[in-house]
Amino acid sequence: MQNHLLSGPPLVVVLGTGGTIAGTSARSGDDIGYTAGQIGAAQMVAALPALTGQPIEVEQIAQIDSKDMSVAVWRALALAVARHLARPEVGGIVITHGTDTLEETAYFLQRLLAPAKPVVLVAAMRPSTSLQADGPQNLLDAFTVARQLDASGVVSVLAGRVHSALDLRKRHTYRLDAFGSGDAGAVAEVESGRLRLHRGWPSSAAIGVERLPAEGAAWPWVEVVTSHADARRHAVDALRVAGVDGIVVAGTGNGSIHVSLEAALVEARAAGVAVLRCTRCLGGSVIDAAADGEGETAIGAHETALVSAGSLTPFQARVELMLRLLAARAG
Ligand code: SIN
Repeated sequence: MQNHLLSGPPLVVVLGTGGTIAGTSARSGDDIGYTAGQIGAAQMVAALPALTGQPIEVEQIAQIDSKDMSVAVWRALALAVARHLARPEVGGIVITHGTDTLEETAYFLQRLLAPAKPVVLVAAMRPSTSLQADGPQNLLDAFTVARQLDASGVVSVLAGRVHSALDLRKRHTYRLDAFGSGDAGAVAEVESGRLRLHRGWPSSAAIGVERLPAEGAAWPWVEVVTSHADARRHAVDALRVAGVDGIVVAGTGNGSIHVSLEAALVEARAAGVAVLRCTRCLGGSVIDAAADGEGETAIGAHETALVSAGSLTPFQARVELMLRLLAARAG
């Protein structure tokens, strides 16, 4: 529950993890040859005069390029988010993060915690030393969302758009407006410090923070393989021999899978490997054949036997499968 008794703006906790938003380059204006994760979250907050005197706490969880995200950082981050959300005086959380694995961390936190207060991931496409850095405005917008008393769930804020963790995907390599929500559309816009809401806040069941492995313990190992022309079974067979726990297959079109790859996946599943099927298409959802057999000619009986991940991207589906395996492990 939100603390509606607060007279001023609610306390926002900022958790720093690195990324381009914290990146610097020796050459001002260089938007490509920079190093991510260089300046601390406290420095980013202090650089925004609009936040001076506001109730804010900052904790640096990591300082990395998000391409190197690990389950150890996810664990530390999830525990910190859960700890701060449990404090009645905390209204919301802002997490500074890289854009490259933003959709994975967002999905992980939503499905693990399904928070009742806003948890806002903020990132930037340009480093802090850019001639037109986008980080400061994005950070300010993240505070606008984190202070909404009626907001809940994990969202991201970039380029004035608020995306749900359940739909978020990076869709461009360079543009400032690099993120989208697929067919679902953005949750809201932030315009001059005000929120214009389009639809409801993200909502899902929570796997539960208590399901996280103990520090240093192994997490379920889940990999992504892709179906394509001339796809072969060897990658799946090699993963199986290496002891993989789960495989997400990014299928063509409506989640269809090359016959060679499909045979290997069906065998892997029979041997105890969990398999989840999604699409490599940038939009849309995998639509399963009707239970009464309608549509089986379009998709094929073998493919429908592999459970689909609906509209999840292959990388969200990887997180989903990992969390399901964690939940199953805990019993
Ligand atoms: C990163 O993901 O940490 C680097 C790239 C970015 O933030 O845009």
